[in-house]
Amino acid sequence: MWHHKQQTLFTGKYNVLDITAGYRYLWKMKRLPELGDVLFLDKREEVKPDIVADNEHLPIKDNCFKYVVYDPPHMIRDIGTFYKTHFGNRFWAFESKNEMLKNFANVNREAYRVAENMIFKWSEIKKRGLTLDEVLKLLDLWEIVKIDKKKNLGYTKNPVYYVWLRRKGKDG
Ligand SMILES: C[S@@+](CC[C@H](N)C(=O)[O-])C[C@H]1O[C@@H](n2cnc3c(N)ncnc32)[C@H](O)[C@@H]1O
Repeated sequence: MWHHKQQTLFTGKYNVLDITAGYRYLWKMKRLPELGDVLFLDKREEVKPDIVADNEHLPIKDNCFKYVVYDPPHMIRDIGTFYKTHFGNRFWAFESKNEMLKNFANVNREAYRVAENMIFKWSEIKKRGLTLDEVLKLLDLWEIVKIDKKKNLGYTKNPVYYVWLRRKGKDG
């Protein structure tokens, strides 16, 4: 495992950078097609990513990846008791709506710097407050290629959206 503070900037060899690796269910459950080798990054050491780092400041050189996968926490910690549950711990939660918005703003910019495409996963949950349309407006450096709607395998019946995005204006 590399720690952000110990490592030199990553320069590339993998196709995909998963910047919210968690326990890698996306990959274990084959929710995404085969996209090549994946490098896993997460801020939590306990999920044993390849790189422990904050995805708002990626320790990665420019234009190293074809895809970034962004599956941010879907919950805000002070809403209800979800965070304390098994699933809440597994998928993590933001401390506040401001922290969530800050993460979107910084990932919008950082992912744009390092990758050509983004696969963004989202699911609308009532109390979460943000609809798919609202969060997509926050990723304004990206254009939508397609949106795949899938059944949720997890804690809610709400559908899951896999949004395939391409960065605007850099790749001709
Ligand atoms: C919804 S989970 C991801 C689940 C994962 N895609 C899977 O398939 O198991 C969100 C993950 O984002 C991570 N995370 C939240 N904020 C982060 C940040 N600023 N930098 C890096 N990782 C972050 C959490 O630690 C958590 O593991």
